[in-house]
Amino acid sequence: MNRLPSKIFIDGGSPTETKEASERRSVTLGFPLDGQTTNPTLIARNLVEKSGKLTEKDALAEYKRIVREMSSVIPGGSISIQVFADEKTSAGDMLEQARERNKWIPNASIKFPATHEGLKAAGKASLEMPINITLVFSQSQAAAVYEITRGAKYPIFISPFVGRLDDIGENGMEVVKNILNLYENGDGHVEVLTASVRNLDHILYALLLKSDIITIPFKIFQLWADENFRNPADDYLYNKPELRPIPYRADVKLGRDWQTYDLQHMLTDRGLVSFYKDWTSLF
Ligand code: E4P
Repeated sequence: MNRLPSKIFIDGGSPTETKEASERRSVTLGFPLDGQTTNPTLIARNLVEKSGKLTEKDALAEYKRIVREMSSVIPGGSISIQVFADEKTSAGDMLEQARERNKWIPNASIKFPATHEGLKAAGKASLEMPINITLVFSQSQAAAVYEITRGAKYPIFISPFVGRLDDIGENGMEVVKNILNLYENGDGHVEVLTASVRNLDHILYALLLKSDIITIPFKIFQLWADENFRNPADDYLYNKPELRPIPYRADVKLGRDWQTYDLQHMLTDRGLVSFYKDWTSLF
């Protein structure tokens, strides 16, 4: 039985790490990992180390091979595969990529960015496949994700990136808290996946908040495994006075047209550029 309130995913681009992490969890807790997230940067990093420069076609074939291996390690889990997009990529293009990627493995969840075009594509895709909205940094992006995916026929994940907010001096975990609060009186159709985890405190606080899912890079996963996948103590306090608070916005409520929410965030734009750059630098 899972003694944790959250599902645990591994965040990476290496099936070897997936295997090691899943085995470690099985040995200690008696059950494997719940899933895997990948992104273009993580896959590119893995491919650069192994293969160097590739053609675009081969790079995509490698992405497919890698997620197939991951899927065979955790066939009962969910494996996130990201579409490639820059600021000019249309919703139609992303949807086409999504349909193709969804055929790679039976347990795919397709990642779309939290941009206008990304959400437009995700709304349609949510009727056809599981999806994961990535590069989320604000409560109003989360409200838009909730509204565009109402009526979804498959699981929907939303991925707030906590570490990248911490990196610019803001308290990223507060976005997780705010989204959970925003969704509290909703119908539960969106699962909150804490992403961009940098340390054990992110894990412990995400568990305390009951984030539906936490995705963890292998190195941090190992640190947590060394502590027997511990839960936060009853008196655990996530106290980060060095980080600027991100207060809950009572004026950002569910129930509006998704296009009326402010989707703009500097880190979403930046993230899109760097995912695309890291991927295209492979060829
Ligand atoms: C999540 O799905 C992303 O792959 C990941 O958590 C990004 O983390 P980073 O900010 O460390 O790149």
